Amino acid sequence: MMNRPIAVFDSGVGGVSVLRALRKSMPAENFVYFGDSENAPYGSRPYEEIRELTIRHAQRLLDEAKALVIACNTATSVAAQELREMYPQHIIIGIEPALKPAVERFPEGRIAVMATETTLRERKFEELMRLCGRSCHIIRCPCPELVSFVERGELDSEDARSAIAKGLMPALESGMDAIVLGCTHYPFLKKAIRAVVGENVQIFDGAEGTAKETQRRISHAGLLREGEGTLLLTNSLEPMAKLSETLLNMNC
Ligand code: DGL
Repeated sequence: MMNRPIAVFDSGVGGVSVLRALRKSMPAENFVYFGDSENAPYGSRPYEEIRELTIRHAQRLLDEAKALVIACNTATSVAAQELREMYPQHIIIGIEPALKPAVERFPEGRIAVMATETTLRERKFEELMRLCGRSCHIIRCPCPELVSFVERGELDSEDARSAIAKGLMPALESGMDAIVLGCTHYPFLKKAIRAVVGENVQIFDGAEGTAKETQRRISHAGLLREGEGTLLLTNSLEPMAKLSETLLNMNC
């Protein structure tokens, strides 16, 4: 069991931003990454389709893995709870927008949350806001166009910057102290986001928190490995495995 891989799942190549953090904190682990680029973006699909796709891929990955990390905020909001109920004996970790550290840093600040429409609409996000967002002003910024830029490998172009500015419009109008990147594709757009908001806005993402929680759960189950880890990058669109590799090795 210990030598089984940790499976990492996303709607496409975005979850590679979480995979990077996972490998950094657990270099001895074996990882299998699966991105469903054929069906990305999930965020603008009907709820039932996101649920069905996530459960189908998760079931297949769980057959081979010692743990599953859902490195997709959208899939987590829709299906993580149901999967945990279906597989109570498995370790299933889902990512969520890093609102908590942002609120801790700016308890009375203005915090923009960039995410897919689904993530911002779902009950999970409402609960997160209730838990940690009481004192500050949270500005929801749905950015439906951004996932496709990353899937195309278009990380910093005029069009990408315009789409970011469009999504962030409500926060740009009122001003903001921080941005939470509530979609795992967005860390790859950081340079373009910086070009839009400037240097004084702090940017948070959930990759490190998710890696820490995964390590804690695997260690608690006595399943942490020693030695040298391996990595297999896969995708429902075969050529996208190459883009995943490029993103994995990028310094951003
Ligand atoms: N990386 C996914 C997320 O974190 C993107 C969802 C999508 O495909 O729209 O939400």
